[in-house]
Amino acid sequence: MRQLKLMATTLVLASLLSCGKKAGEQTRDSIIETKVEQLLSKMTLEEKIGQMNQISSSIKLEEMGPAIKRGEVGSILNEAEPQRINALQNIAVEESRLGIPLLIARDVIHGFKTIFPIPLGQGASFDPDVAYQGARVAAVEAASVGIRWTFAPMIDIARDPRWGRISEGCGEDSYLTSVMGAAMVRGFQGDSLHLASSIAACPKHFVGYGAVEGGRDYNSTYIPERLMRNVYLPPFKAAVEAGATTFMTSFNDNNGIPSSGNQLILKKILREEWGFKGFVVTDWGSAQEMITHGFAVNDKDAAEKAVNAGVDMEMVSHMFVEQLPQLVKEGAVSETTIDNAVRNILRVKFQLGLFENPYVDTTKPSVMYDEAHLLAAKRAAIESAILLKNKNNTLPLSNKIKTIAVVGPMADAPYEQLGTWVFDGEKSHTQTPLAALKKIAKERNMRVLYEPGLAYTRDKSTQQFRKVTNAAKRADAVIVFVGEESILSGEAHSLANLDLQGAQTALIEALKRTGKPLITVVMAGRPLTIEKEVNLSDAVLYSFHPGTMGGPALADLLTGVATPSGKTPITFPKMVGQIPMYYSHKNTGRPATRNETLLDQIPVAAGQTSLGCTSFYLDAGFDPLFPFGYGLSYTTFAYSNILLSATKLQKKDVLTVTFDLKNTGDYKGTEVAQLYIQDKVGSVTRPVKELKRFKRIHLLPGQTEKVTFELPISELAFCNIDMKEVVEAGQFGLWVATDSNSGKELSFEVVR
Ligand code: GLC
Repeated sequence: MRQLKLMATTLVLASLLSCGKKAGEQTRDSIIETKVEQLLSKMTLEEKIGQMNQISSSIKLEEMGPAIKRGEVGSILNEAEPQRINALQNIAVEESRLGIPLLIARDVIHGFKTIFPIPLGQGASFDPDVAYQGARVAAVEAASVGIRWTFAPMIDIARDPRWGRISEGCGEDSYLTSVMGAAMVRGFQGDSLHLASSIAACPKHFVGYGAVEGGRDYNSTYIPERLMRNVYLPPFKAAVEAGATTFMTSFNDNNGIPSSGNQLILKKILREEWGFKGFVVTDWGSAQEMITHGFAVNDKDAAEKAVNAGVDMEMVSHMFVEQLPQLVKEGAVSETTIDNAVRNILRVKFQLGLFENPYVDTTKPSVMYDEAHLLAAKRAAIESAILLKNKNNTLPLSNKIKTIAVVGPMADAPYEQLGTWVFDGEKSHTQTPLAALKKIAKERNMRVLYEPGLAYTRDKSTQQFRKVTNAAKRADAVIVFVGEESILSGEAHSLANLDLQGAQTALIEALKRTGKPLITVVMAGRPLTIEKEVNLSDAVLYSFHPGTMGGPALADLLTGVATPSGKTPITFPKMVGQIPMYYSHKNTGRPATRNETLLDQIPVAAGQTSLGCTSFYLDAGFDPLFPFGYGLSYTTFAYSNILLSATKLQKKDVLTVTFDLKNTGDYKGTEVAQLYIQDKVGSVTRPVKELKRFKRIHLLPGQTEKVTFELPISELAFCNIDMKEVVEAGQFGLWVATDSNSGKELSFEVVR
């Protein structure tokens, strides 16, 4: 019987969609609303609350079966086996009273089986299509086993690389993260959510988690509302505008309020201001953790605070299903609140087409590691790599080089190369730099001498160093692969020291002493404090854990088949003591002049204020090791004829910026041109620079392209002294440049 009903619905919806997408979508939406109301009207309170309960898949189906049958489970996470998923769905659809399908969820963060660069690496590509394709491939692979909801994209702005989860976002910048995060939402959700290869996105962690004090995970944050609106919220707003259908609350208490109990963000901002129609899920036990925070007395109090603040679904503590019936009976939680939460959940399940077809077709051939997926992952890894140094054009390896020494603990580390948050990607499919270089070496008649030197990145033993330096002495060039094992970044993996672990630096020093051209490749989950290693190396390529195809990507870059184009999505500090350090900082009343007297230049018994009073460090100056937006190429680019369409504009105008970009070198290459502005004077102090546009431009040697940026003046709006989102008249600076620290300043004025 149920199947017939389902068939009928499918025919109706399918025919509607045939009459043009827009009309079909609107009609579909109204049909879904009707179906939601019809179903809601049949549900008991317990069944409604059951939809608000997400459980984690346990090993035994029989443990989960009875609760699903009773209608007490709305969603299951961490189940990725298609037969088990179908069996769980079958219980829900065929054995529960109303047959409401389950929503199967998984952390598919940067790939399901085919692993893409970690999101911080994708951020370095400054290419939204890389983000889109990575999410699209992840969705196709995950959906093929029955997963229809991912807890991604993670779009927390983070400016503290001590925080291990900086690996999961797209870096420090609000605009870059907004563009990349929106592309990921579109990639996960596809052209329409009801398509079998679409999965619901879940922008997280809402909000401010990346600002944990001290970079220590789960720590408190203090982000005043104005800063929240100007820096941390925009990526989430962009995700809503991209159609995100679920949101996840964050662990942190911001200004004393845990996000899972924060009405301001969950109701006022997310629902009333942004019109979000999806549903909100907590993070793992984060509603119950409000007790540990000292924000709730017990489960009952925590459940009441969470659901009344705007949480719709609770992850794994079972608190909702245990506490809400009594809270409703006591009137502490209204049934209207429950109904609204369940509407939001059912709406997404209808949008996903789960009522029409809750099962995954296990007869279809596997799509895992499909050639097209691997190619997309390789492209992403190529575009994500950042050339930080290239003295005397050490790279790309010249054809004269006949023997290379490939060394270091990350040269052939198939598991570590995948990076954090990889549950389903298999290291057996990883193509490492060693394997890829051996393959290219055969084609180029080049010899590869391989000596790891260290067993893993934390290895402190120097016992193998002699073998390494002997190999290096027999080579024409040395490529050392260092960095972080994947477990050293990600959740709950904060570091107080960002130097290379173990004896990696000593290994680089030993290699330097051989006098051979030394190329250092870093694979890590965050920026590391590698000033010493950069100074010792002739060339440095930085690759935030590049994923399954990292090896072929890096081999192509090292041998010149491809040219590096990545840019730093996060500032690289010289030392941890400089953190937090980011380009979009305020000017302060005493900005650094960069002519300050530093530690070793201070005269003995210097007078108290003789050094000048500006904002810098005696032992580190002011500048980072590498600024935001920085990255070299094998070629060079020249910016010229930068022209503004006007120098006086009104708030309704669009500023058009044109410039010529020329490839002035000998290699084909791609430049990420960046446009920054500065609001010189505001009703509150404004950042010295803000990224407002970027574009990847590919040029052959000698080629020039006229490039245009369109910037609506309305995009200069910010949350001002009155907490209003406005564009304030006044003078603005503008830069079109290769990174946040370069370029000539132009000016324009916004007039009333
Ligand atoms: C974790 C993470 C969150 C993840 C969730 C489910 O603790 O904070 O990002 O999606 O639990 O695994």
